[in-house]
Amino acid sequence: MRRGGGRIPFVPSPLDVVRRMLAIADPRPDELLIDLGSGDGRIVVSAAEDYRCRAIGVELDENLFRKSMSIIRDRLLHDKARIIHGNLYEFDFSAADVITLYLLPETLKDLKPKLLSLRRGSRIICHDFPIPSLKPSEITIMRSSINGRPHKIYLYEIT
Ligand SMILES: C[S@@+](CC[C@H](N)C(=O)[O-])C[C@H]1O[C@@H](n2cnc3c(N)ncnc32)[C@H](O)[C@@H]1O
Repeated sequence: MRRGGGRIPFVPSPLDVVRRMLAIADPRPDELLIDLGSGDGRIVVSAAEDYRCRAIGVELDENLFRKSMSIIRDRLLHDKARIIHGNLYEFDFSAADVITLYLLPETLKDLKPKLLSLRRGSRIICHDFPIPSLKPSEITIMRSSINGRPHKIYLYEIT
């Protein structure tokens, strides 16, 4: 069920980092964004709310799954957004136009073959941890005003 070493804890991306990740990906309303390991659903919610795209999160932790689905319902985003309660290793994300990842290097390494086979034009956005041995198209470094620390955002474009 779990590969690539240890458990990946829930550490939310600060909201200003989320906004920048989405600005870099710039999903169109007809596109699908998938956040693998979606935590409290903040990336999925912001994508659906601010970009009007379809957005799916995949989250293993039941409490986080429930919490994020209740935020989606409260904000009336259920026509655009949903969370799958499941294991990201078993989820078919090949339909994604944008993938967001705040995961550990071992997991990124495991996912690399599937990520590289996404269709042309897809964007992969990694927070803090790059995909091992893959050259990003762009690296953004920003200091979050929420936690005061620098964050790296890696963009990979499938060509
Ligand atoms: C670092 S947090 C990132 C949360 C969110 N993407 C964000 O940026 O705010 C990683 C999340 O991945 C979830 N996770 C860890 N392993 C998973 C797995 N195998 N399948 C689905 N979710 C997983 C954790 O429960 C946690 O919520």
